[in-house]
Amino acid sequence: EFSLLSSFYYVFLLLLLCVFFRSVCCNHWSSEERLDGKTVIITGANTGIGKETARDLARRGARIVMACRDLERAEEAQADILEDTGNENVVIRKLDLSDTQSIRAFAELINKEEKQVNILINNAGVMMCPYSKTADGFEMQLGVNHLGHFLLTYLLLDLIKHSSPARIVVVASVAHTWTGMRLNDINSDRNYDPIKAYGQSKLANVLFARSLARLLQGTGVSVFSLHPGVVQSDLWRHQHQCIQMAVKIFRIFTKTTVEGAQTTIYCAVEPGLESQTGGYFSDCAQASCSRTASNDDLAQKVWELSCSMLNITWQ
Ligand SMILES: *[C@@H]1O[C@H](CO)[C@@H](O)[C@H](O)[C@H]1NC(C)=O
Repeated sequence: EFSLLSSFYYVFLLLLLCVFFRSVCCNHWSSEERLDGKTVIITGANTGIGKETARDLARRGARIVMACRDLERAEEAQADILEDTGNENVVIRKLDLSDTQSIRAFAELINKEEKQVNILINNAGVMMCPYSKTADGFEMQLGVNHLGHFLLTYLLLDLIKHSSPARIVVVASVAHTWTGMRLNDINSDRNYDPIKAYGQSKLANVLFARSLARLLQGTGVSVFSLHPGVVQSDLWRHQHQCIQMAVKIFRIFTKTTVEGAQTTIYCAVEPGLESQTGGYFSDCAQASCSRTASNDDLAQKVWELSCSMLNITWQ
């Protein structure tokens, strides 16, 4: 059952948080770092912070693979980025994270076509949507935000390791602090709360980044998760009109998509972050995640559950 009141409660809390952070620590980071000769894959690069991340990294000279479900919107974004940056090395490849067949087809193509992948940005996400399932029967938010990216990373990992030094950036959210993992009802079959399911998928993102960083110790591949801020974007499309209105009214306290992309860009390009692999970032700086998100036992359980849901084994 969708509860307007509890949505309001969380959105209100979130907006309060941004008012607070905006006033005390809006971190204005910028960097001239270049990415010439590097290849970047960004999921959900056709809109919102994904598009702004693509634009910024294209300006730095990287080859950009925009991994998108909606090819028409991706083409518009690509044209916009080309016009803005002059970088002609921006390509679109079809990826639907709600379908493991599409993820496997995408990874196969990338492994065949690309000589290297230096930066993978797991950015795409769905937020607080009505109850629905992916092609493989996973609850949509867990399926797209976590499991889809988990499988994608798994399938591209050899190529990423061969491209080392490399980075994997996982766009999570402060929403990971809202809830725990429901390991015995991971797909919310018994009871669906769109807010908790969103929080759970974002918690899985942070746990995944920690576990993966540990697994990749010594390979030259670093992994970071982050909170982009509360951003004006399409992510709000599933929310009640009143909530969309509230976000608009609080516009001055929320981030633009360009601002929202900065922490992702920071994690992708800032030199010297390797020692902080596995860390969680916010406002272009390392931040603390919730205690649940730093629980290694839980991380291990979620890792194993994810592998068994996807029928994969990591070496
Ligand atoms: C995993 O394997 C089971 C049993 O063979 C199958 O039913 C299921 O569709 C598979 N799931 C995925 C995501 O491959």
